[in-house]
Amino acid sequence: MLLVLLVACGGPLEPAAFTEADLAAEMIGYADWSHPDDWPGVQPSCEGSHGSYVQIWQNDVVDADRAAGGALSNGALFVAASYQDTAGTPKMFVSMRKVEGAPNTWFWGHYDEDAAPIDAGDLPACSACHVQGVDRVRHTGVVPPTHLAECRERDTGSFPG
Ligand code: HEC
Repeated sequence: MLLVLLVACGGPLEPAAFTEADLAAEMIGYADWSHPDDWPGVQPSCEGSHGSYVQIWQNDVVDADRAAGGALSNGALFVAASYQDTAGTPKMFVSMRKVEGAPNTWFWGHYDEDAAPIDAGDLPACSACHVQGVDRVRHTGVVPPTHLAECRERDTGSFPG
């Protein structure tokens, strides 16, 4: 009771800042997660910023949010791998984790073709393009590119995983 009172008198506690290490910990095992319904497996990227082909995974928070049909909640995490060609030559890895209260509400992760970290946190270059998507999620797309169907007819080759 005393502890409760002390905490109560101390004012609202600041939530611990989400860090790059937290993101790395949460990304462990991502390759076993589910794929978004509207981006199943490796898909040709019509937009192409991440690479010619992209694969996306979502964590169980996203699974639950999507099943409920509501907005993405704190802890929602997407990981994407992108490839240069149909042989599956890796180009980069990226991730985005919803952190309510953070600038633009997402904590971004950027990794090279070997999955070595490049940068993480509030990355305006990521956010500036992702702002075009609903809640900054791009694979769902409010207005799909008109060439989407044609683009998706491209051969996806045989990819690893
Ligand atoms: C110029 C636009 C652009 C920039 C810049 C960009 N992205 Fe993306 N991103 C996309 C598009 C478009 C998709 C959907 C897949 C596709 O079409 O390639 C996507 C997909 C993703 C996904 C999968 C979830 C989703 O939103 O669909 C993650 C995670 C992601 N990007 C992270 C990042 C990170 C981290 C950065 C910065 C290092 C970044 N992106 C920069 C356009 C961009």
